[in-house]
Amino acid sequence: MEKIASLSKRRGFIFQSSEIYGGIAGFWDYGPLGAELKRNLRDLWWRAMTREREDVLGLDATIIMHPAIWKASGHVDTFSDPMADCLLTQKRFRADHVDLQSGMVYRFSGALGDEGGKSEVGFAVLVPAGKPRESALKVAKQFYEQRGVKNAVPQGGEQGEKVENTRAFNPENGAQLTEPRPFNLMFRTFVGPTATDADVAYLRPETAQAIFAQFRNVLDTSRQKVPFGICQIGKAFRNEVTPKNYTFRSREFEQMELEFFIKPDEAVAAVCGEVARWHEGADLSEPRDNWGWEMWHRYWVAQRTAFYNGIGLGTDVLDYYWQEGDDLAHYARACVDILFKFPFGTEELEGIAARGDFDLTQHQQHCGKPQEFFDEELKAAVAGWDEAKRAAFVERKVVEFRAKAGQAAAKARREATAEELASAEARAQHWCARFFTGNYVPHVIEPSAGLDRLALAVLCEAYHEEDKADVNGKVERRTVLRFHPRVAPVKVGIFPLLKNRPELVAKAREVYAMLKPHMNCFYDETAAIGRRYARQDEVGTPFGVTIDFETLGEKGPELADTVTVRERDSGDQHRVRISELRGWLQGRLA
Ligand code: GAP
Repeated sequence: MEKIASLSKRRGFIFQSSEIYGGIAGFWDYGPLGAELKRNLRDLWWRAMTREREDVLGLDATIIMHPAIWKASGHVDTFSDPMADCLLTQKRFRADHVDLQSGMVYRFSGALGDEGGKSEVGFAVLVPAGKPRESALKVAKQFYEQRGVKNAVPQGGEQGEKVENTRAFNPENGAQLTEPRPFNLMFRTFVGPTATDADVAYLRPETAQAIFAQFRNVLDTSRQKVPFGICQIGKAFRNEVTPKNYTFRSREFEQMELEFFIKPDEAVAAVCGEVARWHEGADLSEPRDNWGWEMWHRYWVAQRTAFYNGIGLGTDVLDYYWQEGDDLAHYARACVDILFKFPFGTEELEGIAARGDFDLTQHQQHCGKPQEFFDEELKAAVAGWDEAKRAAFVERKVVEFRAKAGQAAAKARREATAEELASAEARAQHWCARFFTGNYVPHVIEPSAGLDRLALAVLCEAYHEEDKADVNGKVERRTVLRFHPRVAPVKVGIFPLLKNRPELVAKAREVYAMLKPHMNCFYDETAAIGRRYARQDEVGTPFGVTIDFETLGEKGPELADTVTVRERDSGDQHRVRISELRGWLQGRLA
């Protein structure tokens, strides 16, 4: 990772934000090459997710939205991480990310205050097995000195207490951490000049909620019917307790999210007479009318995997984590994380969740405006149901809604109250009444990816070192970024063989001017040609075009107006006519 970060800085991919003032943790800037890399990834995602599809539309919403959105979504109340501070250095940790430690714990106590009132201050230090007790005494002394306590005394004898696999101590100095407490990750700001509590607003922690909030507007202004999706790319902000692993966990980052709205399985069953369920080997190539949520979920996992494969992240570097049990949010039916094998570990690149109708239902309840879709086919299908069929349907729904209330309560380690169960029953009745008129709140499949994480993954995957002999046979270690041509920031380097031959330079400039409007090119006439190739290899340029004496017709008229094209990875060289060069390159960059 250090080598990748160093190359990224040296060649202008990624810089620390505000570096001239010492930087600011969790914020990163993209230099000229990084900006191109990100733009390519963003464009490829946009093209795959909306331009090439008939059933997905784009959205570009604001970062600051009405704060009620974050109340309805649950972010105000529950979007938090547990945080703990070192009692000695005040360094902040994400409590569930502190390394597990074992060793001996030594406890101390000291009286704080004066004659007017004293309070006992306890403190503990963990010393790894094999280390002397003295190091605990030293840390404790510092802790009590900071508080002006001189008479701190060890507790529990000299032996200490054996502790295993604890996260309660600072791994750097052994000092005790505070009890974990929830820390809301949303950045707060004020809208308007008065800056009172009533003016509090949030920088969005995800782009998804804007899509839900604009669901009806998009539906009403487009000719889409469920199933269809709305996608968005944009900045998101999270005040991460411990940003880390370079850009992997940042405080400001970009998300690429799709909310794909589908019929509830009950509507699919009513209209199609059956619901296709996923099984090993199921055909996911083309969506079908009879697909239930599970097929749609698997379909999007397959689509997103194909996207990654198409930009050079093969199945060998991807992995999947299917969330289960307590990992799953109570409203989620399934969630799979697509993971990438980063140098620091196999970590999440994208989450694909089947979120049921949770989000739109929440907004419907909070804003008081229907967030439903009217499905004519459903209305026609249920019109044929007799009373007995309807009654049995309602009964099943009531059981299901009550069970869900029970599960939600169980997550909070309690039983559902009678009131909650009665409310669940009333909601089930209402849901059925709306269903019988052809109305429902669509369910959602949400593929949610991080652009910065993807840029990092692509950089890590591209990074290669190779030993190469120069013209004198001296072996040198070189770095090559083997970007897939689709994502490479610079597509082609253009080089006159010699810079002191005006005919070569003029021709090279001509070729550059011809290609520049169609692809990102880099013109370079300094240094030996091998050196120029190496410089472009290091930033991942897939093709190099050299204008040489053949081009000028000096090696025979049949070679006039041809150039040498060199491939970055194989080193293979081709002679290509200038008139065919653009098509030749575009065919290999697509
Ligand atoms: N709307 C669902 C959602 O936001 P998430 O798993 O919290 O889900 C989705 O985030 C993706 O956004 C992640 O898979 C990751 O790629 C990216 N992401 C989340 N937090 C991030 C952070 N602090 N820094 C960089 N990327 C982040």
